[in-house]
Amino acid sequence: MTDNIAGKTIVITGASSGMGAAAARHLAGKGAAVVLGARRSDRIEAVAAEITQAGGRAMAVTTDVTKAEDLRRLVEAAVETYGGIDVLINNAGVMPLSPLERLKIAEWDQMIDVNLKGVLYGVAAALPHMIEQKSGHIINLSSVAGHKLFGGSAVYSATKFAVRALSEGLRQEVAAYNIRITIISPGAVKTELLDHITEKDVQQANQDYVAEVGVPAETFARLVAFAINEPADVGINEILFRPTAQEL
Ligand SMILES: NC(=O)c1ccc[n+]([C@@H]2O[C@H](COP(=O)([O-])OP(=O)(O)OC[C@H]3O[C@@H](n4cnc5c(N)ncnc54)[C@H](OP(=O)(O)O)[C@@H]3O)[C@@H](O)[C@H]2O)c1
Repeated sequence: MTDNIAGKTIVITGASSGMGAAAARHLAGKGAAVVLGARRSDRIEAVAAEITQAGGRAMAVTTDVTKAEDLRRLVEAAVETYGGIDVLINNAGVMPLSPLERLKIAEWDQMIDVNLKGVLYGVAAALPHMIEQKSGHIINLSSVAGHKLFGGSAVYSATKFAVRALSEGLRQEVAAYNIRITIISPGAVKTELLDHITEKDVQQANQDYVAEVGVPAETFARLVAFAINEPADVGINEILFRPTAQEL
């Protein structure tokens, strides 16, 4: 049954690749209108065109989640085109892992700006609409790394632990407005996330591991659909999933 997905308007950040693109295709296939945000316009436009050609509803809005104004424009585009916003998936993220002693300060800043402040800016853009309509669903991407530390993950984990704290605070504050909050914490998933690790030794170790145990991005798409599809009086607050073979 997918009764509670069809007809919804779902805004997805980081929809140009990996889990965001997979979720867009999956949710559009279940009858949602999807609004795709990311910096690579050509990629989100291609995903939107593919969905539209298959008979679905999709639009692409170039979005840099480090800019609050971009997120405001993304959500406004959804409201203007489809009449509202039912779900926001704050999925955009970066993971340039490295040991702290290598002092990759620009990468620390980028992780905080995208993974944490980007989520906050998404919340700021969507919340006024959801409060006014007294319904909505915000889904934030944490990670197994938001529960555990591993080599080179200190700053990435700090952002993903913070997303969990922020999401639980948000859940408590907006429960009275009938707004659902979901944290999704994936384990190893085969996406482009590791492509941007600049420390080659760290990148190689992670690529080898994810190639061995990682699950496809469609795994996330199924689970996010499950959380959205539950009836409005049920909030799926946390989903933590791993490849069966992942030990950490
Ligand atoms: N893959 C995993 O194993 C794994 C595990 C746990 C959690 N996660 C989390 O899952 C989420 C999705 O990642 P993924 O694995 O699907 O990786 P991915 O394929 O690299 O996708 C990341 C997405 O984030 C977008 N993005 C990055 N910086 C952005 C910015 N400043 N503004 C807007 N969009 C931005 C990228 O789009 P543009 O470059 O086009 O902007 C891309 O669409 C992330 O939050 C990640 O931390 C992934």
